[in-house]
Amino acid sequence: GGTAPIAPSVLAADFGRLAQQVRDADAAGADLIHVDVMDGRFVSNISFGEVVVDCIRSATDLPLNLHLMVHEPDRLLPGLMKVSSDQVLVHAEACAHLHRTIGLIKENGNQVGVAINPATPISAVEEVLPDLDIVLVMTVNPGFGGQSFIPAALGKLRRLYDVIQEHGYPVQLEVDGGVKADATARDSVAAGAEILVAGTAIFNREQSVAEAIAALRDAANG
Ligand code: DX5
Ligand code: ZN
Repeated sequence: GGTAPIAPSVLAADFGRLAQQVRDADAAGADLIHVDVMDGRFVSNISFGEVVVDCIRSATDLPLNLHLMVHEPDRLLPGLMKVSSDQVLVHAEACAHLHRTIGLIKENGNQVGVAINPATPISAVEEVLPDLDIVLVMTVNPGFGGQSFIPAALGKLRRLYDVIQEHGYPVQLEVDGGVKADATARDSVAAGAEILVAGTAIFNREQSVAEAIAALRDAANG
C-alpha cells in the first residue's frame, strides 16, 4: 500500500454544483474522477450520459475513470470517447462480444477496463486479461451509491490478484461500492486492490471532500 489511487465517484456529488464538486475533489488530492454512466437497463437506475461527462471533463485535468453500467455499450462508446479519453470500463455481463468492445476502446487510444458484478466469476475476464489495463471488482451490486460492501468480494479480489501476478500482467485492480475509511479500504488494498472508488464516503455532509479523501487514504494505508 501507500500509493493506492483514490477515485471519488461523482454519483454522490451535488449535481446542482457538479463542476465545483469535481474541482473540490481535484483540489483535495483525488487521483482520478470516477464517472458512473447508467442506462436504466443494465442497471435499474439512470444517471447521466455524454453531455454531463463532457461537463465533468471540462472541470478537471485529472484522468476520468469512466464506469459504463450500460447494456451493449458499443453504440454509446464513440460519443463518450469523443468527450472523455482516459480510462473506459465496460461490464463483462453487458457485452455479447467483450473482446471486440475492448478492441474498440483501445483503438481510440484509451486505457481499458472490465468490471464484474459480485455474482460474476473471475473466469469472465481471464481470456481478456492480457488486453486490459484495469479490472474493476464490484463490491456492491451496481446501480446505486450508499450500499454496503460485500465481504465475499475480497476473496475474489485475492484470487484475481494471484492470477494477474502469476502471469505478470500489468493490470490494476479496482474496487467500487461501499468503500469507506475503515476495514473496507484496508482489506481491499491488502487483497490486491490499487484503485479505490468512493462515492458517499467522499461527498457527504459530515466532512469536507478534503477531510474525507485524507481519511480514506489513511485507512487504505493501514
Ligand atoms: C454503484 C456505482 C458506484 C457508486 C459507489 O453502482 O458504480 O461507483 O457511486 O458509491 P458508494 O461509494 O457510495 O458505494
Ligand atoms: Zn462506479
